[in-house]
Amino acid sequence: MLSSAIYRPPEFFAPEEALLPRSGEIRPFRTQLLKWVGNKQQQADSIIRFFPKSFGTYFEPFLGSGGVLGVLAPKHAVASDTFAPLVQIWQTLHEDREALKRQYAERHALIAQTGKKAAYGQVLASYNKKPNGADLLFLCRACYGGVVRFRKNDGYMSTPVGAHDPVSPESFGKRADIWHARTQGARFLHLDFAESMDSAKPGDLIYCDPPYTDSQAILYGAQAFSLERLFDSIAACKARGVYVALSIDGTKYSGRKLCDIPIPDGLFEREEFVDVGRSMLKRFQMDGRSLEDHEVRDRLLLTFRHPP
Ligand SMILES: C[S@@+](CC[C@H](N)C(=O)[O-])C[C@H]1O[C@@H](n2cnc3c(N)ncnc32)[C@H](O)[C@@H]1O
Repeated sequence: MLSSAIYRPPEFFAPEEALLPRSGEIRPFRTQLLKWVGNKQQQADSIIRFFPKSFGTYFEPFLGSGGVLGVLAPKHAVASDTFAPLVQIWQTLHEDREALKRQYAERHALIAQTGKKAAYGQVLASYNKKPNGADLLFLCRACYGGVVRFRKNDGYMSTPVGAHDPVSPESFGKRADIWHARTQGARFLHLDFAESMDSAKPGDLIYCDPPYTDSQAILYGAQAFSLERLFDSIAACKARGVYVALSIDGTKYSGRKLCDIPIPDGLFEREEFVDVGRSMLKRFQMDGRSLEDHEVRDRLLLTFRHPP
């Protein structure tokens, strides 16, 4: 018997500091726990509308900051990533969120003592000495653009401090409470995507949001990733009746190829578009010329035809 995902009304979990929704207005859930490049929370609603109406366990094997997981708030989920310090953050949220709040508050307190840049430098040095979730949590909130990147030669995290002020411990605490509630049904595991996908059963749903290119290999901890291997896993899942949805960055796809890798014939039954708003990158590349009409659309490839 399949259970439906609980698509909880977003305003139910709205952070206390948010304005109350006007009568009849449903606010999308936008409160972020982590800042993470490639975060999909903004697009999550338009991704979720293509999911099957009912499914067993929800899998998110490229978890990152869990943009879709947080919006979907499924009853049963397996959430995993190969980046060990990142998974530590999620596990701490699940098992002892007060500890997570303390970890953030202790590092944030350094700002008042030494200034933001020095505080960031101190946490960065500690992380690079021994990568761990507690330091990564503060770094991803305080670093430039949430772009956690690593030097090729020694694997050190190298992102500079951001210009913004990282959220206060009070605000982070509220975020942790909200995210704890929304991810109650999830188990957080440190796994390669293939291992996680192998454990999905007929009727389960997997949402994949992988890094695509070599250029992303320096992001997220430089794990080995290959699209061919992902296609193999997706094919095996489809063959045993597991639903798979794959997000494709708008710039990474041409014709039947993804980053120059051919998409196996017949693997996907449907292709849908997901609006992601205006492209800041393009705006930058066009050197300030107005691109008001330039909407970027990501794709969603689905191994199933109609939402069953
Ligand atoms: C594009 S990000 C996912 C972003 C996510 N949807 C969000 O909302 O934040 C890709 C993620 O895949 C993870 N990853 C890279 N290689 C992996 C692998 N072989 N198995 C599992 N996860 C991997 C990275 O650590 C990163 O967190």
